[in-house]
Amino acid sequence: MESSHLNDDYDSSLPKEKWWGNLELHQFHGYWFWLPSLQAAQQIKNNFRPLPTDVILASFPKTGTTWLKSLLYSIVNRSSKESLILNHPHELVPSLEIQVYPHHLPSSDISADNFPPAGSGIFNTHLPYQFLADNVNSSACKVVYVTRNPKDTLNSMWHFLGKSKSPETKPWTLDVAVDKFCRGVVPFGPYYDHVLEYWKESLEKPQKVYFITYEELKNDPKTQVKKLAEFLGCPFVGDDKELEVEMVVKSCSIETLKNHEVNKSNDSPSWSPVPYNSFFRQGEVGDHKNHFKSEMIERLDAITREKFHGSDFMYGI
Ligand code: A3P
Repeated sequence: MESSHLNDDYDSSLPKEKWWGNLELHQFHGYWFWLPSLQAAQQIKNNFRPLPTDVILASFPKTGTTWLKSLLYSIVNRSSKESLILNHPHELVPSLEIQVYPHHLPSSDISADNFPPAGSGIFNTHLPYQFLADNVNSSACKVVYVTRNPKDTLNSMWHFLGKSKSPETKPWTLDVAVDKFCRGVVPFGPYYDHVLEYWKESLEKPQKVYFITYEELKNDPKTQVKKLAEFLGCPFVGDDKELEVEMVVKSCSIETLKNHEVNKSNDSPSWSPVPYNSFFRQGEVGDHKNHFKSEMIERLDAITREKFHGSDFMYGI
């Protein structure tokens, strides 16, 4: 993103479209944002100076962020079992745009000196790569990007929004959800552009950006955990390494995490209208087949072929 920025009246000048219930998204630099995320994006751009040891977990919403939060936290901290029992993964790894640079903080309270909070080390963001490029490239920090096939991503988003307790929102019908997703009008969308930007960056700078898919992780979590640890510069070594990897995989599995009291809670965190437990649903590959009509699948596959396969990224069908 060039240094053109958002000014105080940007909300009235940007294209906007209804997304879900009464909520509107605003289009900026080709992407659709909920206004608070856009305000946070500006704060991040101006103030986020990652340390060389920081890890930025980037993702499009509903692609496995919660899983990767648990895994990265466990890989970096190793003896993290207790922390995962007592804390929701979203509180161990804060979101830059929701928890670290929340839009409602007055600018005067945000300065490079007191944000991000000292010692946290791993942050997550849903911002497209171009919004972060200057920040992450000015530091030796590393970026891990997780993606998931578009149909399961949308399916997960549709179920997730169905759990919202927000009074301004009504159920999002699947027909509307598919249409909005295909046209890119979902928060941080278009999904396809978001994924391709990070994928291309991971090819150009493999030491900087690690690209992983939800399906690869499901298929062989141990191998992927080892690779992630190597990428982050903290490989598993020694006689117990297989056991350690196994413990990380097990303590971060959806079956384990779902059963911790903190993750079962029906309360909503202060930063989200959805309850803590809504971040853990099925965690399966292919669940969209149980909900999507064949014409929905065909429409999504056609876009996947055009956008992904047309860019030589053979993924998503
Ligand atoms: P489903 O709705 O398909 O079950 P995000 O964390 O980006 O919001 O993505 C949420 C999706 O990841 C949900 O998918 C959720 O169930 C799944 N998920 C959460 N924790 C997981 C884990 N530990 N392992 C596998 N999938 C997980």
